[in-house]
Amino acid sequence: MLSLRPPFILKLPNLVPKMSLSDQMAAASISTSASALKHAFSDRVPIRSILCLPDGGASLSGQRVRVGGWVKTGRKQGSGSFAFLEVSDGTCPANLQVIVDASVADLGSLVQTGTCVQLEGTLKEPPEGTKQKIELRVEEVVHVGPVDPAKYPLPKTKLTLEFLRDVVHLRPKTNTISAIARIRNALAYATHTFFQNHGFLYIHTPIITTSDCEGAGEMFQVTTLISEADKLEKELVKNPPPSESEVEAARLVVKEKGEAVAQLKAAKASQTDITEAVAVLSKAKESLSKLEERFKLKPGIPQKDGKIDYGVDFFARQAFLTVSGQLQVETFACAVSTVYTFGPTFRAENSHTSRHLAEFWMVEPEIAFADLKDDMNCAEAYVKFLCKWLLDNCFDDMEFMAKNCDKGCIDRLRMVASTPFERVSYTEAVDILIEAVKGGKQFENKVEWGIDLASEHERFLTEVKYQKPVIVYNYPKGIKAFYMRLNDDNKTVAAMDVLVPKVGELIGGSQREERYENIRDRILEMGLPTEPYEWYLDLRRYGTVKHSGFGLGFERMILFATGMDNIRDVIPFPRYPGRADL
Ligand code: 4AD
Ligand code: MG
Repeated sequence: MLSLRPPFILKLPNLVPKMSLSDQMAAASISTSASALKHAFSDRVPIRSILCLPDGGASLSGQRVRVGGWVKTGRKQGSGSFAFLEVSDGTCPANLQVIVDASVADLGSLVQTGTCVQLEGTLKEPPEGTKQKIELRVEEVVHVGPVDPAKYPLPKTKLTLEFLRDVVHLRPKTNTISAIARIRNALAYATHTFFQNHGFLYIHTPIITTSDCEGAGEMFQVTTLISEADKLEKELVKNPPPSESEVEAARLVVKEKGEAVAQLKAAKASQTDITEAVAVLSKAKESLSKLEERFKLKPGIPQKDGKIDYGVDFFARQAFLTVSGQLQVETFACAVSTVYTFGPTFRAENSHTSRHLAEFWMVEPEIAFADLKDDMNCAEAYVKFLCKWLLDNCFDDMEFMAKNCDKGCIDRLRMVASTPFERVSYTEAVDILIEAVKGGKQFENKVEWGIDLASEHERFLTEVKYQKPVIVYNYPKGIKAFYMRLNDDNKTVAAMDVLVPKVGELIGGSQREERYENIRDRILEMGLPTEPYEWYLDLRRYGTVKHSGFGLGFERMILFATGMDNIRDVIPFPRYPGRADL
């Protein structure tokens, strides 16, 4: 099909994030032959690699290409003699304009929104005065995946994000959700790049755990007891257990067959007769044991001493979905020094806010030989790196978000990437809030030393008082987790939260309590059982080390970067109370 051979493998702009976008485009324009732009593993040229060239694709004019995507809008023109299609393959926010002649294909099915098309044709510069720099004149329609417009749930009209949550399987086809997917991907890439560049080892911590990291009891339980009980209940209905008299009868049979064997032996019967009788006895014993086993089966969850018997559960103990990989990643920090984990975490809190999910992703670095100040420095450098990365590698998607969602989002990224974060102690923060109340500011939650800062307080500090990210540190020990290092005042712990505009708390972290007695006392003081934490205490018993870390809520970072309002729209498959589609 393509006569040109690629002179070299051209890297697509979005796939080489280490280069700035402009560098990538410059590289791409060295050789803008369409054959070089073909995707390595699929039969089409990604639309991004046409439209994201520095000249908008104009230099590809005259080239023959095959593209694939989905029709955003289509309209017949010239009394039905040709059609314009806007085609997106989700590789960039822009659509490729396509012109199809009625002589090439049935236009009626092509113009429907949502139709999948794979098209081959020649790229041409459109007439002067149109906003496109390049368009495709179709010569062959290779594939059509039709859509019945009467049934398609995503018509052309603008749909609300709330509506889209009801069609979570189709919403990636919308401009907003696909832009967020690309931004999310870029932030994940940036996260690994940042930590890898700084020598952190990526550790995969478990999803299923037997320890409650935050000690807050907000864990989802992992058990097979319920499904096993359900299965058994159904089985017992189909195949009822034996009655006591049936078991008794089977015992009698065993007794009789046993006696028969004894009699044969006493009568010195032939070996063949004895062997036969023994075989009959074994059969009777086997069927008795089966009956006895089934007789013991009781419907419902197994109990022992009046409590659920987790000893017979899948892991032979109670198990949960993790709320944080921190405790486990600490085991590696205390051995290989500088590590991070990045994975899904789960919280069974019944929060119906726009900032909480029941399943969310967390990035958790853990650094040995590091104190709270090192931790804050790392958090600040990481957030700045993420902001700069989006500006350098995802600018077209950020422009889309600025136009359609939050016009300040690009300026906010620039501000965060270049401005030092404010750092205030919790005590100072509370004083500031108290002053604000005196000055007439009204909060729903009362401000006094010792409270857990509410979202409204956090947002006041970062949005009104400082208008930039703020790190609040040294929180009262009473409101923080057991593993945070006690300060010399005996009242506060070496904790820190990074607060950012639009979101409030983006990061929570601390220096960890590395002193054995202190941490053991804290566990007891908080009424937690020590047994599940013995392994964690071992890290303090054997070669303890000063260490610190934090957790960044990945979806909160996306909210902050894009200006989206609801966390349910920045994760592909949101899980929250009452909802877990797909
Ligand atoms: O402050 P958190 O609870 O800290 C921890 O879990 C520590 N073990 C982390 C560590 O030190 N390694 O949670 C960390 C961050 C929060 O700052 C917030 O951004 C996010 O996780 N987060 C949530 N995001 C979405 N939905 C929820 N329900 C969240 N809960 C916390
Ligand atoms: Mg927190």
